[in-house]
Amino acid sequence: MTSAPFTKRKILVTSALPYANGPIHLGHILEHIQTDVWVRFQKMRGHDCFYVCADDTHGTPVMLRAEKEGITPDELVARMQEEHVADFRGFLIGYDNYYTTNSPENKNLSEGIYNALKANGKIAVRTISQLYDPEKNMFLPDRFVKGECPKCSAKDQYGDSCEACGATYSPTELKNPYSAVSGATPVIRESEHFFFKLGECADYLKSWTSGETKLPDGRVQPHLQTESLNKMNEWIEGGLADWDISRDAPYFGFPIPGTNGEKFFYVWLDAPIGYMASFMNLCQRSGLDFDSYFGKDSDAELYHFIGKDILYFHALFWPATLHFSGYRSPTGVFAHGFVTVDGQKMSKSRGTFINASVYLKHLNPEYLRYYFAAKLNNKIEDIDLSLDDFIARVNSDLVGKFINIASRSAGFVKKRFDGKLALEADQPELLTKLQAAADEIASHYELRDYAKAMRDIMALADLANQYVDEKKPWDLAKQEGADAELHKVCTTAINLFRLLAIYLKPVLPALSEKVAAFLNVAELQWQDSQQLLLGHEIQAYQHLMTRIDKKQIDNMIEENKQGMEAPAAAPAAPSIEPIADTVTIDDFAKVDLRVALIVNAEHVEGAAKLLKLTLDVGEGRHRTVFSGIKAWYDPATLVGKHTVMIANLAPRKMKFGLSEGMVLAASGTDDDSGVFLMEPHEGAKPGMRIR
Ligand code: MSP
Ligand code: ZN
Repeated sequence: MTSAPFTKRKILVTSALPYANGPIHLGHILEHIQTDVWVRFQKMRGHDCFYVCADDTHGTPVMLRAEKEGITPDELVARMQEEHVADFRGFLIGYDNYYTTNSPENKNLSEGIYNALKANGKIAVRTISQLYDPEKNMFLPDRFVKGECPKCSAKDQYGDSCEACGATYSPTELKNPYSAVSGATPVIRESEHFFFKLGECADYLKSWTSGETKLPDGRVQPHLQTESLNKMNEWIEGGLADWDISRDAPYFGFPIPGTNGEKFFYVWLDAPIGYMASFMNLCQRSGLDFDSYFGKDSDAELYHFIGKDILYFHALFWPATLHFSGYRSPTGVFAHGFVTVDGQKMSKSRGTFINASVYLKHLNPEYLRYYFAAKLNNKIEDIDLSLDDFIARVNSDLVGKFINIASRSAGFVKKRFDGKLALEADQPELLTKLQAAADEIASHYELRDYAKAMRDIMALADLANQYVDEKKPWDLAKQEGADAELHKVCTTAINLFRLLAIYLKPVLPALSEKVAAFLNVAELQWQDSQQLLLGHEIQAYQHLMTRIDKKQIDNMIEENKQGMEAPAAAPAAPSIEPIADTVTIDDFAKVDLRVALIVNAEHVEGAAKLLKLTLDVGEGRHRTVFSGIKAWYDPATLVGKHTVMIANLAPRKMKFGLSEGMVLAASGTDDDSGVFLMEPHEGAKPGMRIR
């Protein structure tokens, strides 16, 4: 086999940055698996390939959610990041760096890019009218205005589109609008906004979107997939509107330089810059040279894996942002379709909006990595997770075909030949055939047609199984004088298995590690496929993977249903929150509840939900507790009353100060049913323990 001489490529790869205000679900996982398989493949080939990602932290939803939880946005995004990182680790996603957009690197880069765009005459200032919440004192993003659809009058529709009739409109057109934040009727207010003059970038974008980059290995990489290019052309032909990149305070994000903290960068400006910031952070830690990847004359390849819904941002705004601020532009933007489950959009009520953490409690991540790989190609098609097909495919392909080759031959090597493979294999044509497939399979991976790669690999696994079926090592083992043949047959089977394991490694990294340990070899590399393993001592075979049991799927769907929030539109059935899991008396005793005297209660400047309570629990000092009860209590009425607090709760640093405990209150499953502070019967004294 002749291969082109090896040229080492410099490749930087990203997945879209998940929002920090929600959990990781199988939609995200599809994207990160798609990216991770590609990155692992490139690394196995010996290229310099780096994979960076981050949480996308900024924006109004994070700000409001943190406020609702009585914590700072920084605390909220730190907690979410921990959860996200654990989920992705669970799915074996091998980032070189997983960072946050709320970082000093990102702030510097965003300011630098903004200043460069401004210096290039690409920033305009214009006054716009927008809906404003007069109670909450903030401008309302479209998603935070609700009202009746101007076309069909459906109630409770969002400010940008109607879920009943599909109409799109501007929030000012809604009938009887109200603020989803406070319920107040919004008013129209004017404000100055900053715009990126995208209209002036049309010529550049026309050439970038239809352009291609010549790669060091001689191939040509189109910047966009054909479907994306067609879409972008439509948009460019339709005329590019300038892009509003500023938001008014209050906002969780980076202040725009020179605006006295009144204006912030819109989250979508700093989010893609977060790719650069994550890489810069990696460079600082590892000594890589940032400029040789992002500088104007970079010879590195830059690829973004994204979902089809965010193409506009990545194929128009982002290349223009980079180009007009003096950086290189992407080599390729790779969009994928959406995950559906059993042919339907993921649904919370059907339990098919599957959270990554729930999946991981029930199923092996490599099942899904394989299943998604078997369905992914380089088109923007939706990917259906058909649950029955998932079970059938994983069980028949991975366990029935792949693992089966090893499990039917490895035992004899250990038992009969001291764990040593023979010096010669049987049927070299079959082995050569599998070895010769390396280039073709590699090219499928390279072009992100994993479905074809998996199909080829499984066809080879079929050949390997036919071989084992014909040779029947279990019969040979019983025949007198067939030792040499048995040895050769098992050696061949194990080599076939090894070749398949090499080809599957980008998809099944944990399994491949176990295979390497079993074969007693170093980490598998792509080029290893061109040699056989002969006369080599292997380890005892331990079972590598079990079948999926339908019950595991049922349990996962069930748990996922329970975890979901009740859909907002469903009529509120008279029901209580389900009773929590049983605890022991010892568990209960860990919670130190005390009677507390409310010495003082006051409003907190800038806090929409909180009251600041000063409590006495008889310790000879006072404690400060921030409590989210402002909507239900006038502070003056609380002073002098007794209540109950958790006295041994870890203190929590909040935006407004340290909170040293929590007071107890009763509440229903929604805000409308009210919040009621606990109050002991007459006679209880501060410091008494509740048991
Ligand atoms: N924060 C932005 C991306 C900023 S990139 C500079 C965002 N976040 S997201 O959490 O909503 O989505 C992250 C990625 O997950 C996007 O590429 C999106 O397309 C993808 N998916 C979200 N739901 C999905 C499915 N149901 N199926 C497949 N991918 C989907 O957008
Ligand atoms: Zn409508």
